[in-house]
Amino acid sequence: MSGLRIAPSLLSADFARLGEEVTAVIEAGADLIHFDVMDNHYVPNLTVGPLVCQAIKPHATVPIDVHLMVKPVDALIPMFANAGASIISFHPEASEHIDRTLQLIRSHGVKAGLVLNPATPLNVLDHVLEQLDLVLLMSVNPGFGGQRFIESALPKIEAVRRRIDACGRDIWLEVDGGVNADNADRVAAAGADTLVAGSAVFTGGRYADSIRTLRERALAGRAQTLAHESSHA
Ligand code: DX5
Ligand code: ZN
Repeated sequence: MSGLRIAPSLLSADFARLGEEVTAVIEAGADLIHFDVMDNHYVPNLTVGPLVCQAIKPHATVPIDVHLMVKPVDALIPMFANAGASIISFHPEASEHIDRTLQLIRSHGVKAGLVLNPATPLNVLDHVLEQLDLVLLMSVNPGFGGQRFIESALPKIEAVRRRIDACGRDIWLEVDGGVNADNADRVAAAGADTLVAGSAVFTGGRYADSIRTLRERALAGRAQTLAHESSHA
């Protein structure tokens, strides 16, 4: 399994001071900037587009992780690639031709991810896993920050971890929604290596403390799993 990354979601940042917020969470230890794009069609909420991605790019000294909650997706991909996205993920329900959309992302030299909602079955990964750089598992229904973590995400994380390990490629396993200091250990123990956190980072204002706590909890959870595995080896 590759490193352990914390990806603050800008959805919970102060949008009037977005550049400063990006700088602040990076100084506080963020490994990625998670950028939630919502279109009031695929999801009920409406957020930001490529212009805002481009505007934060000079402040983002870590990769920008674009999570597209839009339908259709293809037209936005070149726009976000040109706006500085390092990773672009989309929901399979939002694309008519998943393989084509993945190829489109990769043709721009951007890493490609597929996002699974809480009720999306894992078989959407069957024929595309080898083309992915990232699997993003939703642990809330997409559309809003600050929702409660859905516990059935945990066995799903374990199942995707097994698939990724069997595939043998360095595919990141990211979890998004309701991740906080109370569940980060279980999320990482189940096999996630990248934790999105919006409200858990931005609420309260102590970004460095929040990110450090999430990382410590996640590393503790991972260590438990590794110890368990080696005792059963
Ligand atoms: C939800 C978004 C998430 C959200 C996470 O649709 O994809 O990235 O901002 O926020 P929290 O961590 O508050 O659940
Ligand atoms: Zn997201």
